[in-house]
Amino acid sequence: MSRLDDVWIFGYGSLIWRIDFPHEEERMAYIKGWQRKFWQGSTDHRGLPGKPGRVATLINAPESICWGKAYRIHPEQLKDVLAHLDYREKGGYDRLELDIHFDEQQQVTGLTYHATHENENFLGHASSQEIAAQVKSSHGPSGSNQEYVLELHRALLQMGQQDDHLDEIVAALSSHQGSPIASA
Ligand code: SIN
Repeated sequence: MSRLDDVWIFGYGSLIWRIDFPHEEERMAYIKGWQRKFWQGSTDHRGLPGKPGRVATLINAPESICWGKAYRIHPEQLKDVLAHLDYREKGGYDRLELDIHFDEQQQVTGLTYHATHENENFLGHASSQEIAAQVKSSHGPSGSNQEYVLELHRALLQMGQQDDHLDEIVAALSSHQGSPIASA
């Protein structure tokens, strides 16, 4: 049963499929006014300093919604879970408070990890082909950048969800359209 002091954490990237923290409940959810984009550089998980991979962040998009997963955290575990996730997401992400929707009637206020254009690893817009080329050639301490993209794609499909930006990158990865680009 949920308590008033439970905190919900919303994941839209690796937090959808690499869940390494205790939680009481997990639900499909969405946030309004944001789009998932592979505009964040990763130098600590899916790339290296000087050769970043590309991972997801949220970009303001007033008409859009972004599907992900929400996790309810027990109040007694919150401090440890946040310490763990602050460390895991230290490559440019800050906590952001926002409304998490389960459907049009049910919503809670919760937290997500958001990398803004102000962090030093932010890469910004690139074509799907350029992103795919960078993804293909990037590896980091957590594994290949391609695994990150494909696991996220698989997890969203399993949830019955789809994301145009991610689909284009996956298509570019499988059609080998990406040509190597200099690391940003
Ligand atoms: C998230 O998954 O919600 C944050 C970004 C990431 O770790 O991929």
